[in-house]
Amino acid sequence: MIKQAIIPLAGLGTRLLPLTSVFPKELLPINGKPGLEYILDECIDAGVNEIIFIISSKKKLIKKYFYNDNFFKKIIKKKKDGRVKKEYKKILSLKKKIKFVYQNKPLGTGDAILKTKKFITGSHFLVLFPDDLILKKNCSKDMIALNKKFNCSVMASKKVKRKDVSRWGIYSIKNKINNKNFIIKDVIEKPKINKAPSTNAVIGRYILPKEIFLKLQKQNKGVGGEIHITDAIRKLINAKYKFIGHNFAGKYLDCGTMNGYIKSSLEISKL
Ligand code: G1P
Repeated sequence: MIKQAIIPLAGLGTRLLPLTSVFPKELLPINGKPGLEYILDECIDAGVNEIIFIISSKKKLIKKYFYNDNFFKKIIKKKKDGRVKKEYKKILSLKKKIKFVYQNKPLGTGDAILKTKKFITGSHFLVLFPDDLILKKNCSKDMIALNKKFNCSVMASKKVKRKDVSRWGIYSIKNKINNKNFIIKDVIEKPKINKAPSTNAVIGRYILPKEIFLKLQKQNKGVGGEIHITDAIRKLINAKYKFIGHNFAGKYLDCGTMNGYIKSSLEISKL
């Protein structure tokens, strides 16, 4: 069973400026709770017990959020606020499961994931991108079950509008397993509209094999001058590693853009 998850958190959050000029986007509240806590809730509920955060020296506030014990202890002593006590207890229990690694240069998702190499112990691990919230049905849990059944890699998938394909990694499909799952033939990072093989986009949940690190060590920069996880995945697929695309059932919220972020709070309050 998959017990380790990686969350890349070193991104600059430029799509959410000016909110992110001093504050990490992953701590911005969405309907009264930091976006990152939705992601952590999904991980813990899926049975993960070790989470590796990739942060940067500019995003140390994320570590502070989990290491602010003196502050909480003083408050709790003075005010007997049950709600704060409960939230602090949750933070404490999450903190025990989190390790931190640093990516100080924004060289891309592939470079970020490579930084976690020495911590990964199992054959596969889970990756969650904090911009992508999936609610109501635990996508990670369903992907872990697929990994167990087929002993292979799994990536979340969702249909997007043709005009938006250049914002995403896009799949081509080898064959369908059933209505929800398919075998991936290929994946291309942010293709131009006329080069996109489909409108099936990669959403930020991956179960990857540890061999991805060997590909990442040799991975050249791709689109936008960054080292993309998608390009290393493509090499594994070419080397006959099996990857399943999973059309998840939960409610998707894109928190990585200003419009999406604003909409997310409204949508969550209705769920
Ligand atoms: C990243 C990936 C992309 C994927 C997307 C999902 O892009 O590179 O393949 O479709 O996450 O959110 P980013 O959002 O970092 O531009």
